[in-house]
Amino acid sequence: MENGKPSETALMVAAVRARHSLYGEEPKLIDDTFALPLSGIGGREELDRFIDSMRERFAAHGGPALAAGTIRGMETVTCMRSRFAEDRLAEALKNGVRQLVVLGAGLDSLAYRRPDLTAGIDVIEVDYPSTQEWKRQRLAETGISVPSNVRFVPFDFEHQTLSQALDEGGVDRSVPTFFTWLGVQCYLSREAVSATLATVASFAKGSEIILDLTSPREKEGKDDNGRTVFAQEASSVGEQFNSRYTPDEFAALLASFGFADNALLDMATLNRRYLVSRKDLSPLAEDYPGRFVAAVVN
Ligand SMILES: C[S@@+](CC[C@H](N)C(=O)[O-])C[C@H]1O[C@@H](n2cnc3c(N)ncnc32)[C@H](O)[C@@H]1O
Repeated sequence: MENGKPSETALMVAAVRARHSLYGEEPKLIDDTFALPLSGIGGREELDRFIDSMRERFAAHGGPALAAGTIRGMETVTCMRSRFAEDRLAEALKNGVRQLVVLGAGLDSLAYRRPDLTAGIDVIEVDYPSTQEWKRQRLAETGISVPSNVRFVPFDFEHQTLSQALDEGGVDRSVPTFFTWLGVQCYLSREAVSATLATVASFAKGSEIILDLTSPREKEGKDDNGRTVFAQEASSVGEQFNSRYTPDEFAALLASFGFADNALLDMATLNRRYLVSRKDLSPLAEDYPGRFVAAVVN
């Protein structure tokens, strides 16, 4: 990532959320009406051109058919993971969660879009400084007001200590806290992933973390290759995939930090939960290399 610029992958996932918001069928999986203004993309036609340019960039790695499948897969997984996080947050609030920490927030708009979920709790957005700075400028320029319960902690997972950054940001470890960590683990080293889990595990019992895990490829398959195409493009813009875990390996890692009630949902389960009877989003291949994870501090 370059100073003065946002993460390119944060822009790409915001673009596919905007696409779902503009073109998806009702009811949307999530209706991210803030994705377009936050991304700086100027409207429907400019979004179409932006998605076309993504398709061309993906095609350079795997050809046009795979590029089209990669965009469809990205839209599904990106919207589905945000929906999964919001569903779990709604449950966690009933169980007394009082802080939301959005790790690697990118252009995530939960804090602005869902006051019904977030108005009564503290929200802390944590992200790479240049991405966060750019987002804050976009929020100001587009007149999206930042609620008084939202604050920002600039942070680099690879070169700083999360527990210290959260302490300095006034995050209270003694209250149950909900963490989202969407589309971030794959970019981080194993050391940074473990350090993050250790910090989350130090929060009050009942705290929870939601993430989408990236796993190694099991075998060749078309959606699997779509993930590979995305990883190649991310790498070419300086955002390399740096860690992958098998589900068993990640379950053992969570257990080693004392997390309990851990759910590692596969794509077949998620397709059944979120995509039955939808025609706008393609189901993900059952051998898609990843899981959606929810883990609770014990
Ligand atoms: C694909 S984006 C996902 C953004 C957001 N969570 C979403 O779902 O839209 C990846 C995010 O990880 C952040 N990130 C990647 N490496 C990081 C690092 N070393 N330190 C802090 N943030 C990092 C980027 O700034 C970016 O916001």
